[in-house]
Amino acid sequence: MTTAATVKKSAPFEAKPLGQRLLASGCINSRQLDDALAAQSSVDPSEINHLVGRTLVSLGHLTSARLRSCLVKFFTDECREYRDNPSVPAILSMKGVEKRLDGRVVLDGIDLDIPEQRITAIIGISGGGKSVTLKHLVGLMRPDQGVISLNGKNLVTLSPSELQKVRRRFSLLFQGGALFDSLNVFDNVAFPLRETTSIPETEIHKRVMNSLEEVNLAGMEMKFPDELSGGMNKRAALARALITRPEIILLDEPTAGLDPIIENAIHHLICDTFMRTRTTMVIISHSVPSIFKWCHHVIVLHQGKVRASGPALAIQESLDPVIRQFIHGDVDGPIHVL
Ligand SMILES: Nc1ncnc2c1ncn2[C@@H]1O[C@H](COP(=O)(O)OP(=O)(O)O)[C@@H](O)[C@H]1O
Ligand SMILES: [Mg+2]
Repeated sequence: MTTAATVKKSAPFEAKPLGQRLLASGCINSRQLDDALAAQSSVDPSEINHLVGRTLVSLGHLTSARLRSCLVKFFTDECREYRDNPSVPAILSMKGVEKRLDGRVVLDGIDLDIPEQRITAIIGISGGGKSVTLKHLVGLMRPDQGVISLNGKNLVTLSPSELQKVRRRFSLLFQGGALFDSLNVFDNVAFPLRETTSIPETEIHKRVMNSLEEVNLAGMEMKFPDELSGGMNKRAALARALITRPEIILLDEPTAGLDPIIENAIHHLICDTFMRTRTTMVIISHSVPSIFKWCHHVIVLHQGKVRASGPALAIQESLDPVIRQFIHGDVDGPIHVL
């Protein structure tokens, strides 16, 4: 019952700069956009899209709440477009991936495509192999069989040093968030830059402070993880995942253990990050059905295989009893839970 392979090769999606989208939708007028762009004239042009929303808010042209609702509207519109035209090039793929762990088949021939510059959610019952799949996608686990490719290059056959280089293109937010307890927020966020680059400390300082502001943690840089709430920990972990400007961010259960309001805030933040940076994201989520609102593409894993893959808005309408049971959380159905 797989509807995979909906992700085909085609011309990349050209997103209008965020400022232009805000203008076209009537959220701001052209004078306000000019103001915001002028206020940013000293920053790197490639950063303008990252900062325009924040600049508009700091100039008083938009409230944060209005900006958030505009971004969600753009995102929802995009998801509708994606349902109608899901032909987006795949940046990461798995073909026939098999993995046994402790003598048990965990991945039983996984075929999947991760569309470039889109948010993909991987869902499925607990223990179904989602985290194991993610570890394969970033080369932390090797499959017994199959191909895992990044832009068409097979990761499975790379040497350890080649793999190391490729891994710099990914950022992984592990299940649990896992900040380093002994480092304060600033040092946690700076960590990947200090480890993998030779960027000078003054530049690192600027990037970390920017990154913290982006996740609404300005002023928290000297705090230690155990002084932060669960939601703040996740936001700091997200800032750390973003700091290297990866091409692909993989998030394993970014909202696990959070209450519904904080969970919603994290989803807004992920959406905001995506709209500013258009980084390809893969999110493992147990937040069903709410995750359907926050992703373009959904992959359902079941019994070590991809049960379905396609636009979130199409999967949501699936008539497959397994998927319906999973989405609605029914105890009775083809998935035996009791
Ligand atoms: N390193 C490992 N060694 C042995 N078994 C593992 C390992 N990692 C995961 N598993 C098993 O593989 C299955 C899938 O795990 P996982 O991918 O973590 O599930 P989930 O879908 O909840 O993320 C589980 O039965 C788990 O116990
Ligand atoms: Mg898991």
